[in-house]
Amino acid sequence: MNTTHDRYPVPQGFAGPQTVTQEQYEDLYQASITDADAFWAKAAERVDWYRAPTQIQDTCLTNADEFHIRWYADGELNVSVNCLDRHLEKRGDKAALIWESDDPAIPSQRVTYRELHAKVCKMGNALRRLGIARGDRVTIYMPMIVETIVAMLACARIGAVHNVVFGGFAPASIADRVRNCGASAIITADEGRRAGRKIALKANVDAALEMPGMEGVRSVLVVPNTGTPVNMVAERDYWLDRLMERESAECEPERMNAEDPLFILYTSGSTGKPKGMLHTTGGYLVYAAYTHAAIFDIRDSDVFWCTADVGWITGHSYIAYGPLANGATSLIFEGVPSYPDASRFWQVIDKHDVTIFYTAPTAIRALMREGPEPVLRTSRKSLRLLGTVGEPINPEAWRWYHGVVGAGRCPIVDTWWQTETGGILISPLPGATECKPGAASVPFFGIRPALVDVASGTLIEGPGEGNLFIRGSWPGQARSIYGDDRRYYESCFKDYPGMYFTGDSCRRDADGHYWITGRVDDVLNVSGHRIGTAELESALVSHPKVAEAAAVGFAHDIKGQGIYVYVTLKAGHAESDSLRQELVAHMRREIGPIATPDHLQWAPSLPKTRSGKIMRRILRKIAENTVDDLGDITTLADPSVVQALVRERRMA
Ligand code: WT7
Repeated sequence: MNTTHDRYPVPQGFAGPQTVTQEQYEDLYQASITDADAFWAKAAERVDWYRAPTQIQDTCLTNADEFHIRWYADGELNVSVNCLDRHLEKRGDKAALIWESDDPAIPSQRVTYRELHAKVCKMGNALRRLGIARGDRVTIYMPMIVETIVAMLACARIGAVHNVVFGGFAPASIADRVRNCGASAIITADEGRRAGRKIALKANVDAALEMPGMEGVRSVLVVPNTGTPVNMVAERDYWLDRLMERESAECEPERMNAEDPLFILYTSGSTGKPKGMLHTTGGYLVYAAYTHAAIFDIRDSDVFWCTADVGWITGHSYIAYGPLANGATSLIFEGVPSYPDASRFWQVIDKHDVTIFYTAPTAIRALMREGPEPVLRTSRKSLRLLGTVGEPINPEAWRWYHGVVGAGRCPIVDTWWQTETGGILISPLPGATECKPGAASVPFFGIRPALVDVASGTLIEGPGEGNLFIRGSWPGQARSIYGDDRRYYESCFKDYPGMYFTGDSCRRDADGHYWITGRVDDVLNVSGHRIGTAELESALVSHPKVAEAAAVGFAHDIKGQGIYVYVTLKAGHAESDSLRQELVAHMRREIGPIATPDHLQWAPSLPKTRSGKIMRRILRKIAENTVDDLGDITTLADPSVVQALVRERRMA
């Protein structure tokens, strides 16, 4: 890898009230490590507490029986009060949310803090009236509209635990998540909009509710979004706007303990079962708000636009909770970068005078392919800071983002983090860090990355590359995998006690900057979305004609990684193009469009070791078409299997 890289110095003009400067970063970072409790006690002051915490950190990461993570454990607060009520006096008329539709002809919406407060109270009251109470789980399956944020905050207000399921997931994936978290209500919309098409959200919920084990869902609340008629079941389904009309605009917030659950969000791990990461109230809010303020250098006049979907952690922390806790204006966008054309992002920036823009490398690469013209026909003069998240950004895309989108004026924060971390852990600070294209750069306050050498299993000091761990804890860290504490400990903490294993590999350069190089477990990163190979495989083998399947990733120009699957059919079934299409459709139906394979190769059999383990290393090489160097295949039970696969790959 290239070790001499171009450097982009800290620009002038980063001197707002929350800006961290170069000298401050060093001092604050040292302080955050040497006296972590004092540091995090101070950080907690940015949140309003009913009862301020006196206990700061209480964690045991070193043994299975006593494993626990607690922050601010005797504190009491309500997240919705922090995101709404406390801003009313000074910022009641400031826009909390700006909504931009998928369809540019649909007028945008501007929702003030006062209006958002009223909506959240009404929805909170409506939920309570349906019997939803503190601690109950509520699944939210929604498009990117204002009501989605209202639903999250309404749950937080009454102490219900939300579980947002990405609107692109199929009925079977909704059902899995609803069952796993035991949700008693689902909030959804009639339909969503995406690139000019309609997404049948309510119909997907109906289909999920037909599946076994869904009896726990007593109510379905439906937002009329497109106005299309949908099936409504009496005594179960309710139009949410009608329920809210009758409710008061005041709703008594629940006084929550800092460690009460706030939400559960599912993500892929290396087994076939998505894991429900559990985030709690106090530490999560402090961490989301603090990282949002410091890393994005938030000022009162900012219009902050994070293009993620609220179905992912990015949307939770940096569309909803971080910005609203900070009293910022957060833009929510229902659409996609390429609709109606490749200039959409930049037009929306001009339309709403967006100052901070936060998106994913896959979107940047796709737009870069369209050339500079769609960008250059817009002004973008409001922009002062850019961000990326979701996967490593290739230096070429970084430079295009910096030079063309940001006209060379805006620093880029390449923010590394995960569903499990709750907020950003490694990122440049725009007023403090010299940027290097492709580097996530420096740890946030209180974060102690560690690299473990893969071959020796020992810690790397100084420059080097290895598996990325984080020592100790931070307030935003996930507390558990919902209903499975053991699995959390075993999969992330067991091998190196006291450290959290991220699943990523990473390089540290001579300046101590971190460069994430990708996943090391059986998890793919497709367009910034995590998907486990085991989930893809179990969806495939659930098809009656499939005997066996293996899924691997391969380098993809736009998506970062693409999905390559190998399928062995049961005896008596013939390989055909129509069966190929049937299997692709089956995967989309079982998981959702994000599981669409880019390649499906028939495999008369799969390469296995003598003990029966599939050799993914070889399948990855065949998928990458780097078959000249297959490495050692002598441990294979039947090496001729590989030759057959390579031959077929060449012919494809
Ligand atoms: C995985 C986490 C947390 C936001 C969105 C994804 C990859 C994320 C970066 C980055 C390189 C990154 C990692 C990580 N990733 N941000 N800036 N540079 N890789 O959340 O679905 O939990 O996925 O995304 O591989 O482990 P997620």
